[in-house]
Amino acid sequence: MFVKKPPMGFNTWNTFGEKINEDLIMETADAMVHEGLLDAGYEYLVIDDCWSEYDRDPKTHQLVPHHEKFPHGIKYVADYVHAKGLKFGIYSCAGVRTCADYPGSYDHEYLDAKTFASWGVDYLKYDYCNKPGQTDGPFLYRRMGMALRNCGRDILFSACNWGLDDVWSWARSVGADIYRSTGDVCDNFDSFFNIAKSQYNRFGSNAPGCFNDMDMLTVGMYGKGNVGSSGCNDTEYRTQFALWCLYGAPLMLGCDVRHMTKETKELITNRDLIALNQDEECRGPMRICSEYERFNVFMRHLSGNEIAILFLNPDNEPRRARAFAIDMGLTVDSGFHIEATEIFTGEPLEQQRDYFSIKLPAHGCKLYRGRLVKD
Ligand code: GLA
Repeated sequence: MFVKKPPMGFNTWNTFGEKINEDLIMETADAMVHEGLLDAGYEYLVIDDCWSEYDRDPKTHQLVPHHEKFPHGIKYVADYVHAKGLKFGIYSCAGVRTCADYPGSYDHEYLDAKTFASWGVDYLKYDYCNKPGQTDGPFLYRRMGMALRNCGRDILFSACNWGLDDVWSWARSVGADIYRSTGDVCDNFDSFFNIAKSQYNRFGSNAPGCFNDMDMLTVGMYGKGNVGSSGCNDTEYRTQFALWCLYGAPLMLGCDVRHMTKETKELITNRDLIALNQDEECRGPMRICSEYERFNVFMRHLSGNEIAILFLNPDNEPRRARAFAIDMGLTVDSGFHIEATEIFTGEPLEQQRDYFSIKLPAHGCKLYRGRLVKD
């Protein structure tokens, strides 16, 4: 399959961990439609780890859905998800066992790909725990990549090896459609900001055909659930969502979409932010200015010769972030200035001579979209 835009959807892990079952998946599918998430572009509903029995079927060697969690099997759930107009995803692992110690796909890649295809799976998240010691990422992901491409169904291949083995250098080659570039996110500011920072040198690897997956969003978790830690406030969630959108990362929701706050729903369905994430040119941002732990400024080229500019304050105190027009490629004698509007508030971008100085709350950001206009 060839993925042209960063995939969008929901994954069970961040909130539910091993506490998953058929009812949860069906209620989540209902909520994705009712709450307008599908309309906003969130099309994949992905079941993460812990969906199977602890052992394969002794005769067929197939993976077996857990008899209590999924009493009617996985196809039954996938059919329900499809009937809602959504796409259905599942999880396995390149190792012998998954990260939560359920059977992995090592040495069963072709059988599992065929089984997933027969269940109507559209998306496979493929983890990296418990692999044989002599194997590495390229070797293991190549096998499932080949199996998926020949299983008779279009299945998005989400390679989840946490950025190890220089994954950005081979993920595309083995047939992955997205690749996880970092360890697991927790629901707090430092965790997601460290993930964003770790990708400063990788903007060029994110492109149509194979996108850089910075892990599921924690937006809307408020510290609850499986990876909930201290949680974030709404300012911090805005910053997280703005970063994932600006970077062009897959947008996989991790909160309980059946019970969202008004703020969460507004943020994750914000059309301007999603349009930025899904911009057809799929260009990465540039980090144009940083006073390292004090503030960061990024710029990104968009289709139609528009630009996005993100001013971000990682500090615990309110601060001003500064950037010079020249750092955006705008020379003093260009004959142009920038006209842009803040995405959340609609306020215009103010330029002081040849620089910008933007007041930001603690852990907050301002995100502008606009273009160059003749003086
Ligand atoms: C790893 C992955 C997570 C999640 C768990 C499941 O830690 O990185 O995203 O899939 O495994 O056990």
